[in-house]
Amino acid sequence: MKNFFSRHISLRNRLILTSLALTGIPLIILVGASYSLLDTGINIGVNQPLEQGLNAALAIADKSYQENVNRISFQIVNLSYEPELRNKNRLQNTESLLKSAIRSNDLDAIELYDAEGALIHFVCKSGYEDQIPMTDRDRVIHGLQSKFDLVHRSGSENRILKAGKAIENGHGQIIGMLVGNQVFPEDYVRNLNEVQIKSQFYTEVDMLRGRYFVHLFGSFLALAFVVAVAAVIASIYLARKFTEPIGQLVQATHELAKGNMGYQLQRLSRDEIGELMNSFNRMSRDLEENRKKLIHAERIAAWQGIARRLAHEIKNPLTPIQLSIQHLRDEYNKGNQDFSETFSECTETIIQEVDGLRRMVQEFSEFARMPAPNFQETDIGSILKELVSFFATAHPAIRFTLQSTDPLPSIEADAERLRRVLINLIENATHAVMNRSIKKIRIQANYAEGDSTMYIHLEDTGYGIPRDRLERVFQPYFTTKENGTGLGLSIVDRIIQDHNGRVTAESEVGKGARFDIQLPIFQKRE
Ligand SMILES: Nc1ncnc2c1ncn2[C@@H]1O[C@H](COP(=O)(O)OP(=O)(O)O)[C@@H](O)[C@H]1O
Ligand SMILES: [Mg+2]
Repeated sequence: MKNFFSRHISLRNRLILTSLALTGIPLIILVGASYSLLDTGINIGVNQPLEQGLNAALAIADKSYQENVNRISFQIVNLSYEPELRNKNRLQNTESLLKSAIRSNDLDAIELYDAEGALIHFVCKSGYEDQIPMTDRDRVIHGLQSKFDLVHRSGSENRILKAGKAIENGHGQIIGMLVGNQVFPEDYVRNLNEVQIKSQFYTEVDMLRGRYFVHLFGSFLALAFVVAVAAVIASIYLARKFTEPIGQLVQATHELAKGNMGYQLQRLSRDEIGELMNSFNRMSRDLEENRKKLIHAERIAAWQGIARRLAHEIKNPLTPIQLSIQHLRDEYNKGNQDFSETFSECTETIIQEVDGLRRMVQEFSEFARMPAPNFQETDIGSILKELVSFFATAHPAIRFTLQSTDPLPSIEADAERLRRVLINLIENATHAVMNRSIKKIRIQANYAEGDSTMYIHLEDTGYGIPRDRLERVFQPYFTTKENGTGLGLSIVDRIIQDHNGRVTAESEVGKGARFDIQLPIFQKRE
């Protein structure tokens, strides 16, 4: 797991995840803790036995009240079925019936209305005459129309329970209305109210408590959410800020590895990473400087080698010249008959050797004179085409092929010298394939869009170069040919280097050789 974590997730994402964990975990704990804290805090002062008692009292009160309602309703309904009351014409004469109903029931008063809602009789227990108000006319009318039993309370402190019942005759017609009244004792109503109010208050407080909790915890959650979002944003920002310069450093080391010495980092921060970048820049500059020094030293060494070699090459023909002249002088002093023969032999040798010397000196001076290249926009594609067609015409036995990316960009180069490079390479290849059964020379020029480098490859099916000689073929005066100067490839190397490019050789003996050139598209200006 740990390996997976550190290997497959980028540094940046790891930083983000870590900081998220660092803020997220405590946040979750905090949210949990606050929940339980709020929960206990809010329930402080909640008295469960009291609440239960109150609920029980409410239940009892409700029940006793309902029992009263049921009893009164039952009695008034019963009364409404008295045959005397079910005859419209006899309603006026029912007063005694009503009075006896009051005596034998729990009813404290009875009202009787006709079908129009006009009061016919009002009877009550003695002493209640002033306490019981008549039922609202609206209610009576409503009761007559809807046939429903009317139960409600009225009077001072709602002490009077009223239960109504419409009276029907034998044909289901409503002919009147009975309303029974019961007066509750004062303390009964007060207790009933008390219990109801208290328990209602309690329910309200309970609800408020719930709402308060939701409110508090909700705001806490919202706060936590804001903190979490802020943490996410901050950690992404910080991780990016922190890893960006590291990414730049990594990129810079890649550049160095690619050989882009002297690569410099921009936008240095003023922290430790900035210092690191700074020392990277210093190192890179040093490397570039060292590389230049090395190249310089190499050049000097190469020139020393060339000078030594040249001295040696010049000494070689000097010996036969000296010997010839000595021979001529000896023969002349002897006064020999066949002197003229010796004379022509010796002068021929001298002329030949001097000729060779001149050729050598001329090539050397060409090689040595090489001034700084004259960079210009150069269409390398057409140079290649032209040269290939020229050599193909000159050597019809050899199969030349040219492949190149289309279009090939023009590059900044010294056209004359690049032509020299290609001629030298093609000449060598031509020499190498000349006596082989397969005679093929293939030239490729590749360029990838957006790249800063172009690649040219020359491949032949010639005799090839042994591995131990691969390094030396670029040295001046290294040749395996009878009439070779050994300067061709050293000129190639020198020109390509002057173009800030690279040339390398690969080969398999007997199969052929391959020369690879890298050329920058643009020259750096210093
Ligand atoms: N295409 C090639 N195939 C095989 N050998 C090669 C090829 N090109 C160069 N060489 C070897 O490198 C040597 C040096 O080449 P160069 O510097 O051009 O000098 P020269 O052609 O005068 O010998 C050659 O003598 C030859 O041995
Ligand atoms: Mg050559």
